[in-house]
Amino acid sequence: MTTPRKSFGSDNHAGAHPEVLRAMTEASQGDALPYGADEWTVRATAELTATFGASDALLVFNGTAANVLGVSLMLKPYEAVICAESSHLNIDECGAAERILGNKLLQVATEDGKLTPDLVGSRLTGRGDEHRAQPKVVQIAQVTELGTCYSLEEIARLSELCRAEGLYLYIDGARLANAAAYLGCELADLAAHADAFSFGGTKNGAVAAEAVILMRDELRSSAPYLRKQQMQLGSKMRFTAAQLSALLADQLWLRNAEQANAMAARLATGIAEVPGVKLRYPVQSNAVFASLSPEHIETLQQEWTFYTWDETDGVVRWMTAFDTTEEDVDAFVAFIRACCTN
Ligand SMILES: Cc1ncc(COP(=O)(O)O)c(C=O)c1O
Repeated sequence: MTTPRKSFGSDNHAGAHPEVLRAMTEASQGDALPYGADEWTVRATAELTATFGASDALLVFNGTAANVLGVSLMLKPYEAVICAESSHLNIDECGAAERILGNKLLQVATEDGKLTPDLVGSRLTGRGDEHRAQPKVVQIAQVTELGTCYSLEEIARLSELCRAEGLYLYIDGARLANAAAYLGCELADLAAHADAFSFGGTKNGAVAAEAVILMRDELRSSAPYLRKQQMQLGSKMRFTAAQLSALLADQLWLRNAEQANAMAARLATGIAEVPGVKLRYPVQSNAVFASLSPEHIETLQQEWTFYTWDETDGVVRWMTAFDTTEEDVDAFVAFIRACCTN
């Protein structure tokens, strides 16, 4: 079987990292207690809480579930979530939060996927008015759905606003590893500003492993029950746990994120001078957004896999993964150059 061309569609087009697969195989020796009572889950939970300085960590299967569970811990039925219009929670979770929780999402248009204190402030209206859903959670993604990264100062300012206004700050950390790698900070530095967040493993070399990390004791008591109601209590949780432990061991999460980010930077540099191709957002993670003509997009997509992000504006997303190589990027850049200079 020949190896197909590397996909630039998403980091979840990639396979699993061999160290993750090895950890799963090792976890498969003999029987173990189910539903998280096994030694792998106990260990992974301890490792995650130590890494983040957290109160608790709950393992789940995917990022949508992590987001829904995370915000569900913070909301009464009449409360609302302020989020970017472009957020995964708003656009790409099929209305899961609205259907499963029934809470309102208060969306805000942004320049670059990032909320600011002013943008959040614009939705802090109608407070105390029984006719209006009451804002309670500010939800951001780090990195954002547009590949941009909040600086620690930007998150700190949002966090300060939340404290002052009695709001919770929840971070969708499907790509938290890429953010820490880009910022050159510790995972704990990002965690310090949040009340709860997800830590994504799947896009970082795992098969299906995410964690909801709680920074506040007050969020703990309902978490196990809500996870079960939301169908995310895995009976063979040891396999999810083993994946996360493998990512934390020897900072595999960082090595994987650095490789993915470096390949996106290489791709951005490679296309910088290509006529008709324009970078759409700063490249601050493992995603490159670019605009080019519909004809060129079509030609490229005949040979390479990637998503058209915005058909109206001709914006595409090219995404790299932990296993994207320099050769993959160079071959793709050469193809883009040949296509766009003809
Ligand atoms: C920003 C963001 N959050 C969360 C997710 C998780 O989604 P899933 O439910 O597919 O694991 C994704 C996946 O694309 C994402 O890009």
